[in-house]
Amino acid sequence: MGARFDGKVVLVTGSSSGIGEAAARAFHAEGATVVVNSSRSVEAGRAVAASLGRATYLQADIADPDDCRRLVDDVRTTFGRLDVLINNAGTTRVIPHHDLDAATDDAFREIFEVNVFGTFRLTRLAMPLLRDSNGSVVNVTSLAGVRPTGSSIPYAASKAALNHLTALVANVTGPAVRVNAVAPGLVRTPWTSDWGPLHDAMADRAPMGRSAEPDDVARVIVDVAAAEYMTGQVVVVDGGLGLR
Ligand SMILES: NC(=O)c1ccc[n+]([C@@H]2O[C@H](COP(=O)([O-])OP(=O)(O)OC[C@H]3O[C@@H](n4cnc5c(N)ncnc54)[C@H](OP(=O)(O)O)[C@@H]3O)[C@@H](O)[C@H]2O)c1
Repeated sequence: MGARFDGKVVLVTGSSSGIGEAAARAFHAEGATVVVNSSRSVEAGRAVAASLGRATYLQADIADPDDCRRLVDDVRTTFGRLDVLINNAGTTRVIPHHDLDAATDDAFREIFEVNVFGTFRLTRLAMPLLRDSNGSVVNVTSLAGVRPTGSSIPYAASKAALNHLTALVANVTGPAVRVNAVAPGLVRTPWTSDWGPLHDAMADRAPMGRSAEPDDVARVIVDVAAAEYMTGQVVVVDGGLGLR
């Protein structure tokens, strides 16, 4: 593998496990210095950073405005630059879509605080550093933001909002900063560890015949971050699930 991110600083939110951890490792393998982040799983996040070496762990809850400011300030103070922001941190509540009464204002607020408000806020705060480095942003969204599916209606709506934010922000930050999204289908992470029947169903439902592993998604995140002429796009990585 080439070292496309030699000398670059990459911040991956929500990288103490799952897709974020795999992305942190993939960027590190390509030469980057990586900022690992999570809100609660501090020990796990520190362990990821320690296992990499050229990495540092910064605790921050992206739903908290003060934490977002501190996170960007710490990156600026420690490294003096930011080349890539991977907005991977996200949250959900599992609510059957037909149960409209369970999709409460609270559920919407809790999910949007992280997936939409937190992600946009961090992007806004990081933009001066990203402009200085001609950097890029990759938002980890979901197939649920493209098709009427996913763990709940509030979650799917939050990811659809983030897909559109991707285009809206890309439209005003080029040519200095590119903004794209990677939208996974079903991925084997701690998030979906007790969704056994859904993983089993992927054998029949998805043309690729299996759920994604975190590395399947991480590889695309790195490629999208490296794609110098691509901006405003949502790249679906779902093993073809959305076709069925
Ligand atoms: N797994 C799937 O099938 C799938 C499919 C489509 C899209 N996605 C998306 O992929 C992303 C990663 O999910 P995953 O499956 O890899 O889940 P995961 O293994 O549970 O990882 C989620 C990460 O986000 C962190 N996080 C959560 N809330 C945060 C906050 N407010 N501030 C900072 N960090 C926060 C978590 O750490 P703490 O909890 O300690 O903060 C953890 O590091 C999410 O955006 C999710 O919507 C996943």
